[in-house]
Amino acid sequence: MTKVSVIGAGAVGATTADVIAYRELADEVVLLDVREGFAEGKALDIYQTTSLLGMKTRITGTTNDYSKTANSDVVVITSGIPRKPGMTREELIGTNANIVKSVSENVLKHSPNAIIVIVSNPMDTMTYLALKATGLPKNRIIGMGGILDSARFKGYLGLELNAPTSDIQATVIGGHGDTTMIPLTRLATLNGVSVSSILSAEKLKGISDATMVGGATLTKLLGTSAWYAPGAAAALLVENIVRDQKCITPCCVSLDGEYGQNDICMGVPVSVGKNGWETIIDYKLTAEEQEAFNKSADAVRTMNNVLKEIGAL
Ligand code: 2OP
Repeated sequence: MTKVSVIGAGAVGATTADVIAYRELADEVVLLDVREGFAEGKALDIYQTTSLLGMKTRITGTTNDYSKTANSDVVVITSGIPRKPGMTREELIGTNANIVKSVSENVLKHSPNAIIVIVSNPMDTMTYLALKATGLPKNRIIGMGGILDSARFKGYLGLELNAPTSDIQATVIGGHGDTTMIPLTRLATLNGVSVSSILSAEKLKGISDATMVGGATLTKLLGTSAWYAPGAAAALLVENIVRDQKCITPCCVSLDGEYGQNDICMGVPVSVGKNGWETIIDYKLTAEEQEAFNKSADAVRTMNNVLKEIGAL
């Protein structure tokens, strides 16, 4: 019996719950939101798709009653405000830090053994905050950013190569910010063939730039931040955990010397399974990539320091 709770029934949280239910990744999904009746409504709507789509997942909603999330195997935290056009993810810190802190504490009271997936922005800093605030073993806190950014990278490559994204292998590491993420163009392939041997350096630079502002582009188009790919990316992470798949995916995790960094949560390739993230894979960055990673870490660290200034840590 697998139980997954999703905290925050906004567009990203509801999409995450919908994909989990649709793909039958859990026997039970609980959606929780602070808005009266909102999660109940979203959950009922998703539940009413089960006979149409042939799913057996049981999905319910609750208004802020954490006891309903008790004994979850995985809890996905999407709570907080999304960004509006022109805003960076980092500008959300003041509002979202206190929300993420109290949500993580409430979650743990009822699901002491859960693996926690952080989606709320600024995601790298919220993952660091959740780790520090809960004191959980580091492998049980995973930030969702790199999977989404890599999906966008594969998407832009797929459009340029006129190839299905399933034939493309591409990874984004570093922070989940417009200027902090690092699309690893050198390692991107179309079925094993380096994309650098197919596309010009100029085209690849354009794809990398588009990937970095992928979320901002959507925010501008939609008037709020995206939800289909973020929800699907969070659900994929849940799948890796509940099915103990040990897939290598770029996730935001706590670094203890790996990739030259300490006391920080950032995106690196990790294997993910039932115990959370397990092993950090060393991609052996070039000097230039490592320099970009260090710069990204500086920016994430600056944001983490704000947590102390606002009293969240
Ligand atoms: C995004 O990049 C929500 O941070 C998320 O769309």
